[in-house]
Amino acid sequence: MLFRLPCQLLLAISWLVVGNPVLRKRDADFESVRTRLTKDHSGKGGDPKQKYFHESTFHPHYDGRFAEKVLPNNERHKYLSEMMQTYLSTMNDVGAETWIMHGSLLGWWWNRKIMPWDSDVDVQMSESSIEYLATYYNMTIHHYRLPGTPGGRDYLLEVNPYYVNGSTTDWLNVIDARWIDTESGLFIDITTLRRDREKEQKGLKGHMMCKDKHEYLAADIFPLRDSEFEGTPTKIPYAYAGLLEKEYGSKALTNKNFENHFFDEKKMEWIPNGWLNRHNGGIAANTKPKIKAK
Ligand SMILES: *[C@@H]1O[C@H](CO)[C@@H](O)[C@H](O)[C@H]1NC(C)=O
Ligand SMILES: *[C@@H]1O[C@H](CO)[C@@H](O)[C@H](O)[C@H]1NC(C)=O
Repeated sequence: MLFRLPCQLLLAISWLVVGNPVLRKRDADFESVRTRLTKDHSGKGGDPKQKYFHESTFHPHYDGRFAEKVLPNNERHKYLSEMMQTYLSTMNDVGAETWIMHGSLLGWWWNRKIMPWDSDVDVQMSESSIEYLATYYNMTIHHYRLPGTPGGRDYLLEVNPYYVNGSTTDWLNVIDARWIDTESGLFIDITTLRRDREKEQKGLKGHMMCKDKHEYLAADIFPLRDSEFEGTPTKIPYAYAGLLEKEYGSKALTNKNFENHFFDEKKMEWIPNGWLNRHNGGIAANTKPKIKAK
């Protein structure tokens, strides 16, 4: 389980400048956040000027200010799980409304865990919550003591100043905020679910959108349901099954053979293909899934 230290160190104090919307610095550069690396591996140099977040030169899922290499799959999975737990628990503590989506929601459907082959995790946040984080929590460091990590680990919450621009034409800034593991450089992309103002102007009510062009009905997301993911309390969208079917097809909710893995219903785990033959004489549990929200 996680232990959170009481102190939240403020790396930047930009939010203290109350009532001053002028952004003096365009981004949190390497020098301002550097920890152990001597070289900046962010792809900043090659990115368009209007792009706020810079992925690393070696892989789009790593922040080059903190990482210098891609991790092997099993190590990455551990970091992803810890990142998810610390993110959900921090957002719960500070009172920001967030929920899991896409591949993470599909993982939740099966066994409330990140799927072994997933290379990232997906979350969404409400408009009022991203505004709240931008105002009070931008560039805050959250320290967690984790099992097997002697000194604990720091996570950085960084909010994209372009979150105020809700237009899908701002395609360089579709990610509104990031929860960054400052040890591995891995991060969670946070996207804001917004009222679809274009549709509202046409008189249509209850439509929502994200800058990444995903569209939803408000009634499919809200009211959020309470559940658990990676052993941590989380929220999930109201019409989770319908949303998953729409995104991945109905087979994704029932097909137990996926990405070279087999879903073992007794263990409630995805087992890599070949493992059963080696360990179990090829016999697998075969019962119907009983996954429900809460
Ligand atoms: C968050 O802080 C960084 C670093 O100071 C800054 O570049 C960025 O504009 C800030 N984001 C918001 C939403 O103010
Ligand atoms: C949002 O960003 C796009 C692309 O950079 C730009 O064309 C548009 O004017 C911006 N909208 C606002 C309201 O700032």
